Amino acid sequence: MRKILFDGDPGHDDVIAFLTAAGHPEEVEICGFTTVAGNSSADNCTENILKIMDYLNLSYPVATGYNEPLCRPLDNAAKFHGETGLDGCLAYPDAFTRKDPRHAVEFLKDTVSAMEDEVTLVTMGPLTNIAVFFKTYPHLRKKIREIIMMGGSYSSGNMLAKSEFNMFADPESARIVFDSGVSIVLATMEACYSGALLLTEQETLKNGGKVSRLVYDILKYYSRYALRNGWDRTAVYDLTTVVYLLAPDLFQYRDMRVDIEVNGVYTRGMTVCDDRGPAYIEAPEQTKRVLLSVDREKLASLFFETLKKMDQWYI
Ligand code: BDR
Ligand code: CA
Repeated sequence: MRKILFDGDPGHDDVIAFLTAAGHPEEVEICGFTTVAGNSSADNCTENILKIMDYLNLSYPVATGYNEPLCRPLDNAAKFHGETGLDGCLAYPDAFTRKDPRHAVEFLKDTVSAMEDEVTLVTMGPLTNIAVFFKTYPHLRKKIREIIMMGGSYSSGNMLAKSEFNMFADPESARIVFDSGVSIVLATMEACYSGALLLTEQETLKNGGKVSRLVYDILKYYSRYALRNGWDRTAVYDLTTVVYLLAPDLFQYRDMRVDIEVNGVYTRGMTVCDDRGPAYIEAPEQTKRVLLSVDREKLASLFFETLKKMDQWYI
């Protein structure tokens, strides 16, 4: 059984990743969810994830983190996720469960300290909470088995030509986390795109059970951008982290040094992947696992089978 802590900015794809993990309680124990400013404010993201949990009667602790990146104002992703961060789900009832009263960083400190085993962090947003957690409680880094992170890219970005949103939003925090010495698996944009869900596949959820229909509504909004562009599929970015957690063998990857560009005019938040080969790697223990692609068919069948299974649990 693998213990995990989610940190993210739900967010359509964050919610879908969370639900997929919740569909595998025999393999994954979710120990909590901390929210961070990204797609929307951390406060909105907290309401969003609580609303989803309440709808399915799931009760995992949720703690709110930073409402702004470390050194800059938030440049949110309302263009993709709407003002609430989870538009398209407005018709669902508001959350009735209240969040954990602690700040995300204190929640992480208490939870990680109390654990006997190591825990995996699954991050799906800007890295503000994690950077402050590592800086404030450096002795707890050794209890982190690894970070499975949606962020960055091997070659091209979505915010700038070379920068992906989560890294672009808070590059200073990203650099702290990348330099922390904790192992990182990077679900890059390339890996996420290669695992994109077809719009035709998404349509099949419409006639499913409670979980499938919820995911259908979430994807309907989330896929507007793909539809407008005439694409036949949508990259459900954050889902890639949980699929890696459950089935790492589906991925192709390379281990390499990755640094974060903080100040670049055209490259702010770029994950600079050093693919020059082993001769250039000064500290092999500092290399990151860079996911490059995934077996799309197998990812899709794992995902849709999970939803089918969950439809039997929640009526
Ligand atoms: C990332 O940015 C957010 O909008 C998504 O939730 C995902 O974590 C993709 O660049
Ligand atoms: Ca996210």
